[in-house]
Amino acid sequence: MSNITPYNTYNDAVTEIKNRLNVVETISEHIILKKKGRNFWGLCPFHNEKSPSFSVNEEKGIFKCFGCGAGGDSISFLMKLNAQSFHEVIVDLAHKFNIVLPSHAHSTEKTEIKKQLFEINEQVTEFYKEILKTSPLGEKAREYLKNRGITEETIENFSIGYAPNDFEAIIKKFDKKYSLKLLETAGLVIQKENSSKYYDRFRDRIIVPIKDEFGNYIAFGARTLNNNQNPKYLNSPDTPVFNKSKNLFGLYQAKDFIKFNDSVIFTEGYFDVIALHTAGINHAVATLGTAITEQHIKLVSKYTKSRKLYLAFDNDNAGVSAANRGAEIIKSAFQGLGEIKQFDESYKPTLAGDTKIACEIRIISSPQGKDPDEIIRNEGALAFEKLIKNAPLLIDYQINKAIANIEEDLSPQDKFHKTSEIIPILAEVKNSIIRDEYISIVSEKLGVKQDTLSEEVKKLLQSETPVKKPLLPVPQQKKLEKHVLAQKNLLSFYFIYNENLPILCINNYLKEAVFTEPIFILLKEKIEKIISENEDLNDISEMLLSELNDNNEAKALVADIIFSLDDKKCLDEKQSKQYIEESILCIKQYLEYKEHKNLKDSYHTASDELSALQIQYKVREMIKSSRQRLEKVNDQT
Ligand code: UTP
Ligand code: MN
Repeated sequence: MSNITPYNTYNDAVTEIKNRLNVVETISEHIILKKKGRNFWGLCPFHNEKSPSFSVNEEKGIFKCFGCGAGGDSISFLMKLNAQSFHEVIVDLAHKFNIVLPSHAHSTEKTEIKKQLFEINEQVTEFYKEILKTSPLGEKAREYLKNRGITEETIENFSIGYAPNDFEAIIKKFDKKYSLKLLETAGLVIQKENSSKYYDRFRDRIIVPIKDEFGNYIAFGARTLNNNQNPKYLNSPDTPVFNKSKNLFGLYQAKDFIKFNDSVIFTEGYFDVIALHTAGINHAVATLGTAITEQHIKLVSKYTKSRKLYLAFDNDNAGVSAANRGAEIIKSAFQGLGEIKQFDESYKPTLAGDTKIACEIRIISSPQGKDPDEIIRNEGALAFEKLIKNAPLLIDYQINKAIANIEEDLSPQDKFHKTSEIIPILAEVKNSIIRDEYISIVSEKLGVKQDTLSEEVKKLLQSETPVKKPLLPVPQQKKLEKHVLAQKNLLSFYFIYNENLPILCINNYLKEAVFTEPIFILLKEKIEKIISENEDLNDISEMLLSELNDNNEAKALVADIIFSLDDKKCLDEKQSKQYIEESILCIKQYLEYKEHKNLKDSYHTASDELSALQIQYKVREMIKSSRQRLEKVNDQT
């Protein structure tokens, strides 16, 4: 990795990291956001919901969920999402941005292990690569790759290697440098049963290293050279740096091309991606022996603006149902953000540019039922390009698939089975005109009356009950007591930029305000400090959030305040001043009530008559002064 910038102090590095963070980019890596008005919206990752109440303000660098109340900045988002400490998040981000934290900045055990695993995997990659390239042991593997049409360039690009047929290749090479326990954690060696001995996991296999999206080596896929050896592919187990339902093969190599093509091709196999790459089709990734997960979709979709996803699965029954399941997962990942695209622009120009489109799913399938690697090897790259170009939208694919191979003169039972299969697909078509069009085609093909089919589809549409997900409980957002709310309202005036009410003026008005809650006291202190150090400042939010470091509670409060400024923005100078005065008074009254109550309590428990009398006197004085103040206020208004 190049461009490594050293920083003198931990704080300098943290500041640089904060400067480079963009809240929309950070959050988009985990949930799908859509711009609506000034803000971005998505489904909250901290509670289950069907319609988006999670909002992100790019300018201020904050997020807030109006459903569960979570809020804060990029760093608090990552802390909450990954259950990490402030420091752990900083270490990860430093890695991502190629920022070297000063060595005395102690790292935690967890981040230390991750770092070591990246390092081990990188060295192991080099080791296996070298064997493939130069060792006589690698001869067979070189031959194999050549026969599959994989070029030197692709081997280099994917750092492909070969694990020799040796139970101790890794152990011999690395056990001086790393403990066997650590090699085991990396998934490279396995402990023998009832023994303290270890042996290499990967033997006599082509090694395909797996990188995360930032280029760290996180795991390996290993393919046998002889097709009768089982399993054909042996993958690293899940480790602290690898989780197969969260990582995608090839993403690091593909991500710039995904951006460029504004689309991504999902395949099922390592060698499909490798073959596509060799053929110059670089925007492909593969799942790692699992079905597509929502995390995969979220991981990749941030690289494509229009979220155009191609599924290139085998065209056999397993492949077709994998595509259908994949499509369901994709829909679920984009739930609440709009619809799945169901028309081609070229076909219905008036429907193009529909802002409610959440994503576009297209299916790449070859009539011969081959996987992408076989298509390219047998028919060439151009044939595959053509399949991409002509890939039907999911809905068209599903309907065509369902009505293909329908024989003439079906028996009534066959008709029933076939229609029950197709009805749910037809019900998916959102536009009723197009749905009717499909119903007409299907009814003709099946020899079923159009009205009857239409009726059945309607029945299903009416009976559909959405969402089966078990709901995470929505945390109860407690209602603030009046005097606490008043404090929050007072602070919010600091965040409104208004020429007639500059921050210094607000600060002046708020001089006599008394804050009772520790979190508000802290915020007030920090704000005053910022104001005193930066004279003509319009917007304190960035500095304040930065000051608050790992205080997520305070950052959430700041986000909450900023997101609910609208009602105060429209106040003019006079109204603002009045609002501030009333809020200050509200807090005062609470404090008096509190003192009054305390006095009354102590009156009842007073030990002697004299102190009881003294208390009674104080209470009377209090009532008198508060009455006087009230009269003064009434006189003014
Ligand atoms: P396939 O069996 O379709 O193999 O597995 P393939 O991709 O066509 O492989 P080649 O072309 O024969 O080399 C698809 C994917 O399923 C996972 C791997 O990720 C593989 O790429 N898999 C398959 C395993 O994890 N283990 C296996 O034993 C087989
Ligand atoms: Mn294959």
